[in-house]
Amino acid sequence: MKVIETKALTKIYQGKENVPALVDVNLNVERGEWIAIFGLSGSGKTSLMNILGLLDRPTSGKYLLNGQDTSVLSARKLAHERGRCIGFVFQGFNLLSKETALRNVSLPMIYAGVERGRAEERALKALGRVGIANRADHLPSELSGGQQQRVAIARALINNPVMLLADEPTSGLDSVSKAAVLDVFEELRNKNPKVTIVVVTHDDETAARAERKVEFRYGRIVSEGADDLTGSGPAGVVWSKPTDLKDKATQPTSSDPAGVVWGVSTNQ
Ligand SMILES: Nc1ncnc2c1ncn2[C@@H]1O[C@H](COP(=O)(O)OP(=O)(O)OP(=O)(O)O)[C@@H](O)[C@H]1O
Ligand SMILES: [Mg+2]
Repeated sequence: MKVIETKALTKIYQGKENVPALVDVNLNVERGEWIAIFGLSGSGKTSLMNILGLLDRPTSGKYLLNGQDTSVLSARKLAHERGRCIGFVFQGFNLLSKETALRNVSLPMIYAGVERGRAEERALKALGRVGIANRADHLPSELSGGQQQRVAIARALINNPVMLLADEPTSGLDSVSKAAVLDVFEELRNKNPKVTIVVVTHDDETAARAERKVEFRYGRIVSEGADDLTGSGPAGVVWSKPTDLKDKATQPTSSDPAGVVWGVSTNQ
């Protein structure tokens, strides 16, 4: 069952100059898949995530979510679907600056109708899972970048989303924090194997957890590789350097997995 299906999706930002951020994007993601999206800066990754997360609409083309054409949904229905089934980790976190870490994490639950005490209890647990329960009362400005990122991740996971969209969720994290974050994603999936994860990343370790990689360039998908690296395992993917366009038909090559943290357990 396809959870995401885009058909000739195009996004053009209109302004003094029209910027075609997405061009004819056809992407299918099955329920329960974990995919990584990569590509150079400006290649359209965040634009795509915003559409997949129902935060923006395409200029043309279709986005079917769980088989439902989203273009016919009202803004209200889109917001409802977003709150009900999508967890979003934004590039740059998007935390509410005047609210504590605990409030940032508990608010989506409160909006979803959970009673405040219970929401805060769950939020505290979620902060514990990403290793920052002791910072629950801090404002974002009182947290390091990595800590803010972990608050954003706790917030994205709090409603047990069936689809997690994460835009550079591990950038700038040290390898222990990174492994902890990826373990949290995996835990979400272990709890519910039907959870679909779409993660934008430039990071080898983060990409190595995905089952499929999709490369964007100039708003188009230029290469797509299932994890067909028989024998080398997901840790063997060369990831950080996108291939040249002439190589676009080739799969990622395998190489030395040195430095890749795979399944590291942390004591969070
Ligand atoms: N709101 C906007 N208005 C106009 N142009 C935009 C807007 N948002 C993005 N763009 C342009 O669209 C293109 C794609 O941007 P996008 O943010 O999707 O790239 P990205 O792949 O996420 O890049 P990065 O890796 O730097 O985050 C870029 O050329 C960008 O300048
Ligand atoms: Mg981006």
